[in-house]
Amino acid sequence: SIPLLLDVDTGTDDSLALLYALRSPEARIVGITTAVGNVSAEQATVNTLKVLELEGSGRQIPVVKGADRPLRREWPGTKTAYHGENGLAGYELPEPGLDRSGEDAAAFIVRQADALAGELTLVFVGRLTNLAEAIRLDPTLPGKIKRLVIMGGALRVPGNVTPYAESNIHGDPEAAAIVFASGIPLTMVGLDVTASTLFREAHLQQLRSRSPEGNEAVLAFAEHLLTFRMQAYLGRKGILACPIHDPLAVAIALDPALAETEQVRVSIDTTDTYTLGATREVRGTGEGHPVLVCTKVQDEAFLQRFVGRLTLYA
Ligand code: BDR
Ligand code: CA
Repeated sequence: SIPLLLDVDTGTDDSLALLYALRSPEARIVGITTAVGNVSAEQATVNTLKVLELEGSGRQIPVVKGADRPLRREWPGTKTAYHGENGLAGYELPEPGLDRSGEDAAAFIVRQADALAGELTLVFVGRLTNLAEAIRLDPTLPGKIKRLVIMGGALRVPGNVTPYAESNIHGDPEAAAIVFASGIPLTMVGLDVTASTLFREAHLQQLRSRSPEGNEAVLAFAEHLLTFRMQAYLGRKGILACPIHDPLAVAIALDPALAETEQVRVSIDTTDTYTLGATREVRGTGEGHPVLVCTKVQDEAFLQRFVGRLTLYA
């Protein structure tokens, strides 16, 4: 099995990524860290515990609350348009009976990387704050990580929070700069692939039609999140379909064959200008850090796997 540490800012699509990971038999989730992003770190932690409790299989997985704020920037507040006031599109799940771990998130990441040196895959689907702090704590950390897969960035396509920047990078560009420069083996699953991998109405029909008994509660939750996202996207783009960013990063971490990648040198824009948070391709002598950028994915294969895992059929 593949040992995974997930970092989330739960969030609608983070919730779907958690469900995808929990339902992936090839994954062994060693822990989940949370951070400010779509919602506060506190809300992300509560939401994560709720999702674990709902799904049921991950009750023993440690959940560690991480960064309350970006390294150097202000947090702009909850992103209600795609996540609702509570981060779960307003869906009310019972208060979690599960407890969070009291450990510091950066220390937790360092400890897991030591215990699984050379084997651990990190999947970050929010800001990179906790990882930047972990690297500060242990500068040898990057050498112990097998692979870091992030949902973040936009190399050759427009951003989503500004025309230049994707929100996970824009939300803490200093943290991203530290991580990209650290030499950690990084795969970037950015808007280049996530924005065009669309969950559509036909997929929702599939979800509804083939779920086994006992799966109703998880399915009702997932349907709510997906419908909310489709509606939110409809208002902006006029189509009944939505990107589901975060689960795609988990899927590629577990099965790299889903994506085509290109090795590119990337720099992170940390200037206080309109291009803040841009992920830029550097050619020639400019300063950039080699990362694998996903440029194409087998989107329908991924979407079928996503539906399959939510319905426990694949
Ligand atoms: C990313 O930003 C967040 O809103 C989502 O959860 C996803 O991780 C997409 O840009
Ligand atoms: Ca996220």
